[in-house]
Amino acid sequence: MESVQVKCPPSLSPKYEGSFAYLTVRDRMPTILTKVIDTIHRSKNNFFEKHGEEGVEAEKRAISFLSKLRNELQTDKPVLPLTDTAEDTETWNQYMQRQQELMEESKPVSWFKSPWLYVECYMYRKIQEALWLSPPIGDFDVFKEGKLKAFFESQRAIMSLCTHWRETLTSMGDANEKQLKEHFFKFLQVALWGNKCDLSISAGQDNFQKTSPVDTLSDLQRFILVDDSDKVWSVLTAVQSPLGAERLGARVDVILDNAGFELVTDLVLADLLVSSGLAKEVHFHGKSIPWFVSDVNKHDFDWTLTQTTAANHRHMSACGVQWKRFMKEGVWSYHDHPFWTLPHEFCDMPAVAADLYSTLQASDLLLFKGDLNYRRLTGDRMWDHTLPFERVLRGFQPAPLCSLRTLKANVQVGLQPGQAEKLAAQDAEWMTDGKYAVIQFSSPSREQ
Ligand code: F6P
Ligand code: MG
Repeated sequence: MESVQVKCPPSLSPKYEGSFAYLTVRDRMPTILTKVIDTIHRSKNNFFEKHGEEGVEAEKRAISFLSKLRNELQTDKPVLPLTDTAEDTETWNQYMQRQQELMEESKPVSWFKSPWLYVECYMYRKIQEALWLSPPIGDFDVFKEGKLKAFFESQRAIMSLCTHWRETLTSMGDANEKQLKEHFFKFLQVALWGNKCDLSISAGQDNFQKTSPVDTLSDLQRFILVDDSDKVWSVLTAVQSPLGAERLGARVDVILDNAGFELVTDLVLADLLVSSGLAKEVHFHGKSIPWFVSDVNKHDFDWTLTQTTAANHRHMSACGVQWKRFMKEGVWSYHDHPFWTLPHEFCDMPAVAADLYSTLQASDLLLFKGDLNYRRLTGDRMWDHTLPFERVLRGFQPAPLCSLRTLKANVQVGLQPGQAEKLAAQDAEWMTDGKYAVIQFSSPSREQ
């Protein structure tokens, strides 16, 4: 794994007053913390019913940890080492040391002076620390309520999407390659736009998918700034299954983002990949702890399959039954490596999580969903917008990969000369209002 030397620009940071990072740390992150504290407070009776007095004590303890955290965040105090004893605790504390070495005039690593990617990820990991240090409520998912609500409020869109997919499936048997390619492009774009609905960008405010994006795909086309769909298609169709393989097709890995409607769009896309024979297996990668409000964890994944199966809707239920069968047969699998909830840029993965990197090297195609994954792919730095995506990955290329991302942070590369300037003239918030998206691909260069 040779490291690719690229001169790195500074990280996005709240130290730049008025920047999106600054507004996130000043406004949205404290709001999210306050909602978390409120959720724990409103769950006190449940904790009492489940754990008796211990549950009540735990509620008080967690709230005091989180209130202290919110005060430190709002008054730009130094960030503190983690004190729980989890698998990743040491890695987090080493990362903080590394940040400390990078600070000018050895100023302490603090909320408003450090890289945005680090302090935002750190906040979510500190929420988990507060729960783990407050037994017996360590396994309480502070975002579960919001994720469930998002799922139920998106029912109409989910039913419409499942209906559309099941009807497509009936006609897919005799589709020629051109028709199959059109189906793939359509459901790839549905999964792309499914990413608009995340609860972190809205600081937990309702942000539900009200209509099925299938009906609006053509209107949304012009908001796709980079569309490498053809390159993704070429990777999938180039995979030759070994002679005699019991199942044709590629191995595809989906690095998931948000639960709710977005997860359903990912499951539908994965269903198309397997049902069409384009893929022989799909590996889903979720988060091992509650993350960025709406990100998928194992419970969310299993719950969504159970919920769709139990739906009082023919097509939704048929989807759920099929998806549970894929899991049972091992055609689909779910994984949640701790690296996905670390703050590192992805180019650090070979050094920090070599096991995960080699797992991803066994894939034929990696689909990275969402904005936070894009920020980690690019390191959340102030790159020139026209730098090639593969250069900015700086050696992170375990397999051909594609980012399916709606823009919610001011980092974007791989654009044409003049494209960013034109967008900024039309819409000053083009990088952060979630209106624009990319389907951005990179594959190992021949010589690698
Ligand atoms: O707080 C805003 C934000 O942190 C984005 O910058 C971040 O990437 C987003 O929330 C989460 O978006 P997604 O769910 O698409 O990763
Ligand atoms: Mg997310």
